[in-house]
Amino acid sequence: MHRTLLWTGKGGTGKTSSVANLGPELAYRGLRVLLVGFDSQAHLEATYGIGPDALTVVDALTGEAEPHACLHEIPLPGSTHGGTLHLLPSTRRLDDLSPALAQRDYAALDELLDVFHDDFDLALIDTVGALTPISHTAARAADTVLFVMEPGAYEALSLGERLGEIAAYRDDDAWRMQPLGVIFTRTPRKSSAMQTLREHIADAENFGADIYVFEHHTRPQSSVQTHALQGRPTVLVQPDSNVGRDYRAIAGELLDRLVHLHGEQNA
Ligand SMILES: Nc1ncnc2c1ncn2[C@@H]1O[C@H](COP(=O)(O)OP(=O)(O)OP(=O)(O)O)[C@@H](O)[C@H]1O
Ligand SMILES: [Mg+2]
Repeated sequence: MHRTLLWTGKGGTGKTSSVANLGPELAYRGLRVLLVGFDSQAHLEATYGIGPDALTVVDALTGEAEPHACLHEIPLPGSTHGGTLHLLPSTRRLDDLSPALAQRDYAALDELLDVFHDDFDLALIDTVGALTPISHTAARAADTVLFVMEPGAYEALSLGERLGEIAAYRDDDAWRMQPLGVIFTRTPRKSSAMQTLREHIADAENFGADIYVFEHHTRPQSSVQTHALQGRPTVLVQPDSNVGRDYRAIAGELLDRLVHLHGEQNA
């Protein structure tokens, strides 16, 4: 099981939306996908209608429940070419574990996910944007990091800072994560500013490393923006909407990227 963390230097960029929508797309393409909620806001869980009484990652981490008992199967309508989707949900109680996560040198989730190694092909991990014991623990569990950002100069600065932090983590042998790329969200289809930013980020000199910038991004869509106003605690988009099509294209590109990375590692 390969583990990808969706991360950013800033909050509210669309990480949870991306995990929630890329998960089903990748499952439709035949992958056994595990979504891991690792944010006490538990928005991913709200998206999938997981209630407060469900067994969660906290029960699995504290040993109060057997890890497999904490997985929730998400039904996929239609044919999936053999793929499946499961969620290991988070909960508000994750905050209470912060001191214990730090005490265990942030290794707790990494060790827990080992239990599922043969059950899934890919884990997508959703966590908080800020650097906290929770995001450290999520990062230590990750093989790769997919940055989710909106186009903008401050966002590019935050990305640079986060890449520097990752390079520093990697000096410690315990951390594996490598940057997988950047996906832009809420980005107009054609934008010259976007093209400049794309080139800036792809230029290794700016960041000290080659950063792959995804060809595909999500467009801004008012129905996604306003879903909360309509009382729907969900960021699942309609598959036939513009953003639904965008996520389908990103899922295909992500899969190519992961296959490419595995090829490089095995070479
Ligand atoms: N393509 C889009 N068009 C319009 N709105 C969007 C789009 N993608 C996400 N949003 C909206 O942006 C808001 C933030 O998205 P989301 O919760 O996924 O971000 P996040 O990075 O997980 O935030 P946090 O840092 O709080 O965890 C949500 O209200 C979501 O509906
Ligand atoms: Mg989120």
